[in-house]
Amino acid sequence: MIMKARKILVLGATGKTGRKVAERLVKKGHEVRMGSRSASPAFDWENSDTWPGAVEGMDTVYIAFQPDLALPGAKEAIRGFSQLAVDAGVQKLVILSGRGEKEAQECEEIVIHSGVDWAVIRCDWFNQNFSESFLLEPILAGHLALPRAEAKIPLIDTDDIADVAVEAITKEEHTNKVHELTGPRLLTFSEVATQVSKATGREIAFQPVTLEQYSAMMEEHNVPKPFIQLVNYLFSELLDGRNAHVTDGVERVLGRKPKDFSEYAREMAASGIWDPVEAKR
Ligand SMILES: NC(=O)c1ccc[n+]([C@@H]2O[C@H](COP(=O)([O-])OP(=O)(O)OC[C@H]3O[C@@H](n4cnc5c(N)ncnc54)[C@H](OP(=O)(O)O)[C@@H]3O)[C@@H](O)[C@H]2O)c1
Repeated sequence: MIMKARKILVLGATGKTGRKVAERLVKKGHEVRMGSRSASPAFDWENSDTWPGAVEGMDTVYIAFQPDLALPGAKEAIRGFSQLAVDAGVQKLVILSGRGEKEAQECEEIVIHSGVDWAVIRCDWFNQNFSESFLLEPILAGHLALPRAEAKIPLIDTDDIADVAVEAITKEEHTNKVHELTGPRLLTFSEVATQVSKATGREIAFQPVTLEQYSAMMEEHNVPKPFIQLVNYLFSELLDGRNAHVTDGVERVLGRKPKDFSEYAREMAASGIWDPVEAKR
């Protein structure tokens, strides 16, 4: 059953999933309030004084936490924010979460037991890490050096995540459920490099490195320490095989297969985002 138009606060509203969730909800006629530090009113996870203004008058919140639910302090932030939202009259919380992360699942539990309707969108690694995040630069450089060469990852597209999130936000049948989402197949980083090479017509070399070498490379490039720690955690904990299987989460909600990495790669190549000349402009 389709619910009436909702008033939805979308957190991470300019980010990888939030942007697409917000666009889709607006197209469907819902009232969307953008939630981010640059929005008005501003929302900042690091400043709880900004939270009441963002949730005021809203009936639903899409929670895309920053920087990561696995980091220290996330649980307290999710607990505090959920309580505040429920007290302010929010009737539904939909949280974006990470697959195989114990700490993220503790945050899911907080939302599940918040006393209002909920949905969990529990995702594997996003394709968009290669076009909107820390893996874009190596693709532009034509040289992908990463640890865990043996890991098989069911990469998922944020178009599919946003489509599922919108269903979970707007439809009763997808409410009070955990939606575990993956792409349609397992890929290694070397296979990712091959797919990107095929799509761009540019050679993207893959070089396996150890986690220690990778950390040293990030330090050399002056990557901030907390981000290095997060990346270390993601590579060491999550790529140990625990997530090396696909789910039918996308198909169960949308009635269609998730987008394959090769299709995403063709789209990105056509957009110019992986063109080193375009990127310098
Ligand atoms: N990337 C993946 O592969 C993956 C996989 C599974 C789960 N997840 C989870 O998805 C969530 C989002 O990760 P993402 O990589 O996709 O990031 P993202 O949503 O692309 O992050 C950027 C967004 O967050 C906002 N933002 C940044 N810092 C903020 C702050 N202090 N307070 C409020 N908003 C802030 C940004 O807007 P402003 O700059 O305007 O504030 C922007 O809208 C994380 O919790 C992550 O664990 C990610």
